[in-house]
Amino acid sequence: MYFLVFLGSVRESTPPKPARIGMRVSRACVRLLEQSYPQHTVELIDPLEYDFGDIFKPEFAYRRSQVPNQMESLAKKIQDADGYIMVSPEYNHSMSPALANLLNHFGSSRFSYKPSAIVTYSAGQWGGARAAVNMRTFLSELGCLPVSAMIHLPKAAQVLDENGFVVNASEQSEWDEYMNRTLHQLLWWAQGAALQRERQDPTKKAKVFSKDPSQRNAP
Ligand SMILES: Cc1cc2nc3c(=O)[nH]c(=O)nc-3n(C[C@H](O)[C@H](O)[C@H](O)COP(=O)(O)O)c2cc1C
Repeated sequence: MYFLVFLGSVRESTPPKPARIGMRVSRACVRLLEQSYPQHTVELIDPLEYDFGDIFKPEFAYRRSQVPNQMESLAKKIQDADGYIMVSPEYNHSMSPALANLLNHFGSSRFSYKPSAIVTYSAGQWGGARAAVNMRTFLSELGCLPVSAMIHLPKAAQVLDENGFVVNASEQSEWDEYMNRTLHQLLWWAQGAALQRERQDPTKKAKVFSKDPSQRNAP
């Protein structure tokens, strides 16, 4: 199977210091998945590597022949993936605008019928728990249902080093076990969803709306 880890920060400036703790958290997720599931493929999606322009225009708003190459390539990755790890800092008690903006470029049909895992972190003591609450709604609407377990990392800069390892090595296995709980759930659901997608095309009866969200309105 194939998993995407979405890094939810583009914050290269400081303060607060250091910048882009999200890279550490994302690397920790990639490392753990590779360690626990070497038979699967994991790819880190860094929003700084994608330039979709200043004016918001999602992938589905382009004529098919005019979708920018980078956008088309990420759309294909999302479509091909079996599950997603959504890594977000807490900004003003909400999910990161960088992550929401990146995901908003793609229609829910690309994400649907696959699971996701919510991973949040913060400089403070709550580990982004408040951001996680609205991520659940957001990801459900995208169709990649979040698994019940979540990963929250308080004081993330003190917990993880730049390569995503726990700074205090004696706590590494405890952190791995904590994070693996969510990743194991993700893998379980991803496997189940992949088998079921193969057995039955989910969009055969619940059709993808192609013109307007009102296509799914009550009469
Ligand atoms: C605009 C902004 C809002 C923030 N809001 C919160 C917050 O509500 N709760 C919290 O614990 N930390 C908050 N922080 C601190 C971040 O959790 C911390 O800086 C974290 O490292 C940000 O992730 P990043 O470095 O990957 O961008 C905020 C930081 C910024 C820049």
